[in-house]
Amino acid sequence: MLQSPPGLLIRDLRQGFQTRFGWTEVLTDIDLHIHEGEFFCLVGPSGCGKSTLLNLIAGFLPPTSGVVQLDGEVLKRPGNNRVVVFQDVHNSLFPWMSVRDNVEFGLKMLRLTAVERSRRVDELLDLVRLREHDTKFPDELSGGMKQRVQIARALAIKPKILLMDEPFGSLDAQTRQSMQTELLRIWQQAKTTVVFITHDIMESVVLADRIGVMNRGPGSRIIEILNADLPRPRTIKDERFRSLVSKIEGLLGLENGHG
Ligand SMILES: Nc1ncnc2c1ncn2[C@@H]1O[C@H](COP(=O)(O)OP(=O)(O)OP(=O)(O)O)[C@@H](O)[C@H]1O
Ligand SMILES: [Mg+2]
Repeated sequence: MLQSPPGLLIRDLRQGFQTRFGWTEVLTDIDLHIHEGEFFCLVGPSGCGKSTLLNLIAGFLPPTSGVVQLDGEVLKRPGNNRVVVFQDVHNSLFPWMSVRDNVEFGLKMLRLTAVERSRRVDELLDLVRLREHDTKFPDELSGGMKQRVQIARALAIKPKILLMDEPFGSLDAQTRQSMQTELLRIWQQAKTTVVFITHDIMESVVLADRIGVMNRGPGSRIIEILNADLPRPRTIKDERFRSLVSKIEGLLGLENGHG
């Protein structure tokens, strides 16, 4: 039998839903291999099925057909090796818990002593640069800080894959930019695989090793996977940056019938 490569492998994946209008095919023929340690972005028009694909990887949803595998193991339900960071910064943390307790919550299911737990929380708070704010409560934090708490809590269990569904979508432009830089630093330090969904083409080019471009549904597919092979930090001043952005715009525009 052939051995599966390490990383996330999606084969012949299809996803449909039964609605009151009948059966709708949302995703068709998804074949994808995301490498261990890779930063992979998914872009595509609203409603094309990006969150559905992320939910399938997370194990929140069983696929209509096809398989999702991580390091050779078929994923059928949520597990400690994957964790999701959502867009909603306001409802994603427990408002009655301090920053420290919110991060520590992620560790509760691991069998650690109180001392080990506390040491791990310190490491995580250092990683996201929130050590001095550890006694604050969520409503005392900015949007970017809340999102960093969410990332720390997600990383607490040392997942193999961090799944991020438009995590910076509700942040203002400046905070968003600094969170992109922070996330790249955290990713490089934590050495985890990231699957990141965004509407923002520039954001995908700033962040990703590779970018999967999806087309409009129903029956969306990943129409192309582009290598973002540019040195980091990346800027729009770089000609290669701009050319990648217009390539993605072209792919999405053509698909939308404007090309
Ligand atoms: N549980 C469900 N039952 C029925 N239809 C669903 C369900 N979940 C998603 N869909 C449909 O699947 C399609 C894709 O939805 P999804 O949320 O994955 O899109 P998206 O690409 O994440 O969009 P956005 O960019 O707006 O977040 C939509 O047409 C949606 O209505
Ligand atoms: Mg979505």
